[in-house]
Amino acid sequence: MASFFPSKLSLVLLLLLSATTFNISKMIRCNEKDRRVLSTFKARVEDPYNRLSSWSNEEDCCAWIGVHCNNLTGRVTMLDLHNNPQDYLEQTKSLVGGEISLSNLLQLEFLNYLDLSFNNFEAISIPPSKSPPNISKLEHLDLSYNHLGMVIDHLRWLSPLSSLKYLNLSVINLSKETNWLHSVAMLPSLSKLGLSYCGLTNISPSLNYVNFSSSHVTLDLSANNFNSELPNWLFNLTSAISYLDLGGSNFYGQIPISLLRLSDLQSLKLGDNKLSGSIPYWLGQHEQLQHLDLSNNLLSGSIPSTLANLTTLTDLAVGGNSLVGVLSKSNFSGFSNLGALNLDSTGLKFELDSNWVPPFQLHKLSLRNVSLGPNFPSWLYTLKSLDLLDISSSRISSIDDEHMFWSSLAKIGDVDISHNSISEDLSEVTLNSTYIDLSYNDFTGELPHISSNLISLIASHNSFSGTLFSVLCHHGENAVEHLDISNNLLTGQLPDCWANWNRLVYLDLGSNKLSGELPPSMVTLSSLLFLDLHNNSLFGEFSFNLSSLSNLEYLNLAENKFFGSLPKLQPSLGVIQLRSNQFIGRIPPNICNLPNLMILDLADNMLFGSIPHCVYNTTAMFLGDRGFTYIKNINLVAKGREWASGLFVVLYSASEHGGIDFSNGLMVWWMEFMWLWPSSSKASF
Ligand SMILES: *[C@@H]1O[C@H](CO)[C@@H](O)[C@H](O)[C@H]1NC(C)=O
Ligand SMILES: *[C@@H]1O[C@H](CO)[C@@H](O)[C@H](O)[C@H]1NC(C)=O
Ligand SMILES: *[C@@H]1O[C@H](CO)[C@@H](O)[C@H](O)[C@H]1NC(C)=O
Ligand SMILES: *[C@@H]1O[C@H](CO)[C@@H](O)[C@H](O)[C@H]1NC(C)=O
Ligand SMILES: *[C@@H]1O[C@H](CO)[C@@H](O)[C@H](O)[C@H]1NC(C)=O
Ligand SMILES: *[C@@H]1O[C@H](CO)[C@@H](O)[C@H](O)[C@H]1NC(C)=O
Ligand SMILES: *[C@@H]1O[C@H](CO)[C@@H](O)[C@H](O)[C@H]1NC(C)=O
Ligand SMILES: *[C@@H]1O[C@H](CO)[C@@H](O)[C@H](O)[C@H]1NC(C)=O
Ligand SMILES: *[C@@H]1O[C@H](CO)[C@@H](O)[C@H](O)[C@H]1NC(C)=O
Ligand SMILES: *[C@@H]1O[C@H](CO)[C@@H](O)[C@H](O)[C@H]1NC(C)=O
Ligand SMILES: *[C@@H]1O[C@H](CO)[C@@H](O)[C@H](O)[C@H]1NC(C)=O
Ligand SMILES: *[C@@H]1O[C@H](CO)[C@@H](O)[C@H](O)[C@H]1NC(C)=O
Repeated sequence: MASFFPSKLSLVLLLLLSATTFNISKMIRCNEKDRRVLSTFKARVEDPYNRLSSWSNEEDCCAWIGVHCNNLTGRVTMLDLHNNPQDYLEQTKSLVGGEISLSNLLQLEFLNYLDLSFNNFEAISIPPSKSPPNISKLEHLDLSYNHLGMVIDHLRWLSPLSSLKYLNLSVINLSKETNWLHSVAMLPSLSKLGLSYCGLTNISPSLNYVNFSSSHVTLDLSANNFNSELPNWLFNLTSAISYLDLGGSNFYGQIPISLLRLSDLQSLKLGDNKLSGSIPYWLGQHEQLQHLDLSNNLLSGSIPSTLANLTTLTDLAVGGNSLVGVLSKSNFSGFSNLGALNLDSTGLKFELDSNWVPPFQLHKLSLRNVSLGPNFPSWLYTLKSLDLLDISSSRISSIDDEHMFWSSLAKIGDVDISHNSISEDLSEVTLNSTYIDLSYNDFTGELPHISSNLISLIASHNSFSGTLFSVLCHHGENAVEHLDISNNLLTGQLPDCWANWNRLVYLDLGSNKLSGELPPSMVTLSSLLFLDLHNNSLFGEFSFNLSSLSNLEYLNLAENKFFGSLPKLQPSLGVIQLRSNQFIGRIPPNICNLPNLMILDLADNMLFGSIPHCVYNTTAMFLGDRGFTYIKNINLVAKGREWASGLFVVLYSASEHGGIDFSNGLMVWWMEFMWLWPSSSKASF
């Protein structure tokens, strides 16, 4: 007994001792050389939101965010700092920028995976050609979707990366590298290549071989500018392509039969080019084809009946071509797996019995600008799983069964029935879609009811009448972000019921017959980017505190009856249209402090004094009076936060009234405006 306890104790002591000697967690400390490489990389990264704080606080680089090590050797195998596309679009806090010192990162000898996509990096240093990187383990390299200005001069540094399986450089400007194909064709293991939006121009056949991996190759060369025929020589060299996207890259000519060599082809995307000729009958031999996109080309003729052989097809888009012919039920008989169909703007005629039951259950159907009317085709009711239906501009003027119609639409998330001639009183209808466009019809009555699903309602250019009261005040908190009921016959005041509408980003009530003042509860619309109330009879001394709408970028109060001094303008504003009111006073000098200002229209008020000096400080100034037509024709806020690209007019000030000093004439200020998306760069004055 006595000897038992000491022996157990010594065992415990021994264990304790060994734990101290061999501290397991110490053994996986990051390799010192790799740590230095990463620190050098970090030194060139701009990290305004301190996303990489662990890179400074933590000694063990294997514990740094985005870094993974081999847990036995402590060598860095993975660096993954990607964000998701939504963060990128919204430029959220997780983005880092600055320079990618790739020459430096490629010194991580055991690096296998590098993903810096969806950040804000705007520069990159590539390894010097003379001393190629000592790395061959890298299999996954993704630098796609960074700052639009990122340029890589050449791709010769790729050749030592012989293990590369995945390479994605989409949205990097590679326009200087004319030999890009040569560099990527050498990579013997490559199976996924993404070079979309790279400014590539050259796809000329200078190759004798392509060493891509032997099966299931994905090739995405979309959104470049090749200005060439389709590279049929490439299809001769490699047969292993299963996903091919050559969309939007300025290809012309016919679809070459060499595509038949791609016997594994599952996805063929050739949309948005200038391809001509007819849709080849032999496409029907691609028995594995699931996705076929030939939309928005110059194709003519009919849809070959052999396509009906493609029973595997789940996605067919041939819209936006000059196709002719009659579609009857036999043309659809093979498409039992079809889930998405786009026949937009084709000259096709539908000859389908009203009791036809299609062999498919589509989730997306787009028949925009196709002659479907005058009756809403009842076979559409058989599609029970639709999530998107676009039958805009399809010449529909009558609905046989209104109840069936609206209850079917209520189950579809995204509906566009705009630009038809449907005339109906919607006072009793409830809209339940997430996005619905009713614009340019003859709808009458009061505005329809909305369910809590609705995010976007476009109901402009109809004959809705009555007040806004029922739609604005009878619904509790709602999800609506986009509300356009402009160009109707709405009357009465703006009701004071905006507190439940705080998700609103876009509000257009222009060109109605609304009167009165802006109600106080509008201050709760703090997400609002776009506010258009022009061409109504709104009235009053403008006392509304605009600064509560702290994100507002577009403000249009033109053609109303506001009076008093100009509203106080806050720095978020890019477009300010106050023309044709009765504002009085001087142009406030603080307009010089509006960094985002693109258009300011103060014409036809009672302003006097001089034009603040900052206006003269421009790079280009034109004199002329074309400004207004331009301003009115630009659809400034097209989708969400995206501003249309192109030439924008900034009309500083023009007034026929009052005492403005016009010794410089009418000033129209032209400015080449870059995309505001996805970079955050804005024009600076
Ligand atoms: C082992 O290493 C870890 C991390 O470096 C440290 O926190 C711990 O105190 C060490 N344990 C011993 C027994 O030294
Ligand atoms: C090391 O990593 C591998 C794979 O990630 C894992 O399966 C293993 O459990 C790890 N070993 C230790 C000691 O953490
Ligand atoms: C390249 O890496 C190997 C081991 O991975 C190493 O032995 C060699 O010294 C390295 N060469 C250079 C030039 O860094
Ligand atoms: C790409 O870079 C070149 C210069 O290398 C430049 O001329 C061109 O405008 C850039 N393209 C885009 C789309 O930014
Ligand atoms: C490249 O990355 C983008 C963004 O994640 C992705 O949409 C695209 O599919 C990728 N390309 C390839 C070939 O995987
Ligand atoms: C590519 O293939 C060609 C011909 O098959 C071969 O000569 C060449 O060595 C290969 N290149 C690489 C980098 O594997
Ligand atoms: C493709 O291969 C076929 C048959 O081998 C040949 O006739 C044709 O000339 C080749 N086309 C190109 C562009 O290399
Ligand atoms: C529909 O099929 C018929 C018979 O197969 C064919 O003649 C017609 O051209 C097809 N229609 C279209 C639009 O392709
Ligand atoms: C493909 O379609 C054509 C014409 O419709 C037909 O003659 C042929 O037998 C079909 N081939 C197969 C494999 O189904
Ligand atoms: C509508 O389709 C026809 C062809 O049927 C085409 O010529 C026209 O340009 C299309 N219109 C629009 C607005 O897309
Ligand atoms: C409203 O839409 C939801 C899906 O968003 C759906 O589940 C529900 O059935 C719809 N209600 C009606 C009455 O169609
Ligand atoms: C015009 O801009 C320059 C530099 O951009 C600045 O130095 C100057 O003060 C500005 N002039 C006026 C009148 O704002």
